[in-house]
Amino acid sequence: MKARIHLVAGARPNFMKVAPLYHALLGCDWAEPVIVHTGQHYSAEMSDVFLRDLGLPRPHHCLNAQGGTHARQTAAVLSAYEDLCLAARPDWTVVAGDVNSTLAACLAARKLDIPVAHLEAGLRSGDRSMPEEINRLLVDAVADLLWTPSEDADANLAREGVPPERVCRVGNLMIDTYCALETQILAAGTAQRLGLARGEYAVVTLHRPVNVDAAPALARIVERLEALAADLPLAFPVHPRTRGRLHEAGLWDRLERTGMRLLDPLGYVDFMNLVEACGAVLTDSGGVQEETSYLGVPCLTLRETTERPVTVTLGGNRLIGEDEILQAVPSAVAAERVRRVIPLWDGHAAPRAARSLRERIEGDAR
Ligand code: UD1
Ligand code: UDP
Repeated sequence: MKARIHLVAGARPNFMKVAPLYHALLGCDWAEPVIVHTGQHYSAEMSDVFLRDLGLPRPHHCLNAQGGTHARQTAAVLSAYEDLCLAARPDWTVVAGDVNSTLAACLAARKLDIPVAHLEAGLRSGDRSMPEEINRLLVDAVADLLWTPSEDADANLAREGVPPERVCRVGNLMIDTYCALETQILAAGTAQRLGLARGEYAVVTLHRPVNVDAAPALARIVERLEALAADLPLAFPVHPRTRGRLHEAGLWDRLERTGMRLLDPLGYVDFMNLVEACGAVLTDSGGVQEETSYLGVPCLTLRETTERPVTVTLGGNRLIGEDEILQAVPSAVAAERVRRVIPLWDGHAAPRAARSLRERIEGDAR
């Protein structure tokens, strides 16, 4: 009998991590991969577009568990996923990343004694004011199998006393997704359609509460972006949280007047076409730090910490404060692009994760 494996996805970054594992498991005669969409992200441009771009089927189960506050969102997924597990119990649950859906699904499964694998385990920013850091700590404390992307993640888990037999370094599944779709990405023509010349523009993405939720901080960033846009073409696909805050603070029109490409969130293929062809990225995203590191595109991360230090030590990522934006972004655009190798970020992480899961399932059956 095939092992029924739930792959839980809820928010935008989850889809890119789960997709390569879904495809890898689909080719295994011992596995029945089942996609569970929690509904944390629900707008077409934050959800459906990724299913299409990544070749995923319509989710087998949709929990429709949207919620406002952290507690409500986590609670909605927790109870909806428990109901699903009671009705159609999986043999394993796979959760990805660090969003509220990750924590909620992990808790629901573990309390029903369903084993859980955490994809992208061991990352730590050290900043406990980030909701994601709380989610990472809790998930890694209770999940049974921890798939890590890098050596620093293994070291974090060892420091927290996690026994090594729970940890398996598989590499970075987001890079699998990029590798699988590279031909389509390079042919997508997104930059060209926007009138942006290769290497001569910067991409901006911002959605961390610390940058966008408080109007004064957001206003300071907008001021820098206005000045930056005077001399450098910018493409800014705006996350729904950020769009909402910009409108509430009366800042949207100011950005629009700069002539920058102020866009709706993009699908994966279009977005990666823009990133691959740009001169530099200014971001506070987790995934974008990884993708730029793989591509050798200079990345400036508008944060005080990163849970992905390997992107700084081995990739072209640098943490900056808002005061550095005006100087750092044009210099990064002018700099040489250097492609560096990060161990196991090689497009083959999903088969390694699938193999590790099979070994666990076979080991448990003995
Ligand atoms: C969430 C994750 C964050 C991740 C980000 C990726 C948590 C704690 N946060 O943050 O780690 O980096 O996703 O994008 O899980 N909205 C829409 N349509 C959608 C989704 C959201 O309009 O499809 C709007 C809603 O107003 C919502 C707000 O965006 O209240 C924030 O969404 P939410 O999922 O709570 O947090 P994100 O900022 O997206
Ligand atoms: N992304 C996308 N379209 C966009 C912005 C981002 O397809 O307009 C992709 C990109 O691959 C990125 C991933 O979504 O790595 C995760 O995005 P996000 O920044 O929302 O989440 P985080 O990684 O910060 O949790």
